[in-house]
Amino acid sequence: MKKQKIEIPLEVFETVSELPIDIQELMNKAQQARENAYAPYSRFRVGAALQLSSGKIVLGNNQENAAFPSDLCAERVAVFNAGANFPNETITALAITVRSENKKISEAIAPCGACRQSLAEYEQKQKSPIEIYFMGETGEIIKVASVMDLLPLGFDAKYL
Ligand code: THU
Repeated sequence: MKKQKIEIPLEVFETVSELPIDIQELMNKAQQARENAYAPYSRFRVGAALQLSSGKIVLGNNQENAAFPSDLCAERVAVFNAGANFPNETITALAITVRSENKKISEAIAPCGACRQSLAEYEQKQKSPIEIYFMGETGEIIKVASVMDLLPLGFDAKYL
């Protein structure tokens, strides 16, 4: 038996103003998208903004449903939107931010497991990494250089 460890390389930014200028804009767009979330049940709003290599920005926010499992997370709304409307463009970065109407969230909130799986599919499809920047309503921003950094030991098409 061998013991092994997997380390996740992260970069931590103290404030949005420390981010590269194009990512500051992307995070601002994610904040705007977050405020348009349809989240009457959880009151937990999530905004996502994808940067495409052409410079276009594609937005997503969580869309809830009275039949709870029928809802969709912000990150998947964004990436499916890009897949549907700009299927041949490369996604270069994703900014994510959350705001709860129940409590102040000052820690960086990473995408859920299902969103990591969906994002990984698009990263593999385009054969180039997608940087992910995520934060709460306030507080630090965490960056990973690739979706795969958030999904070690993931499942993908090579096993099929
Ligand atoms: N949510 C997202 O939009 N992204 C995530 O990565 C985690 C959760 C949404 C789903 C639901 O509308 C609300 O946040 C509470 O789970």
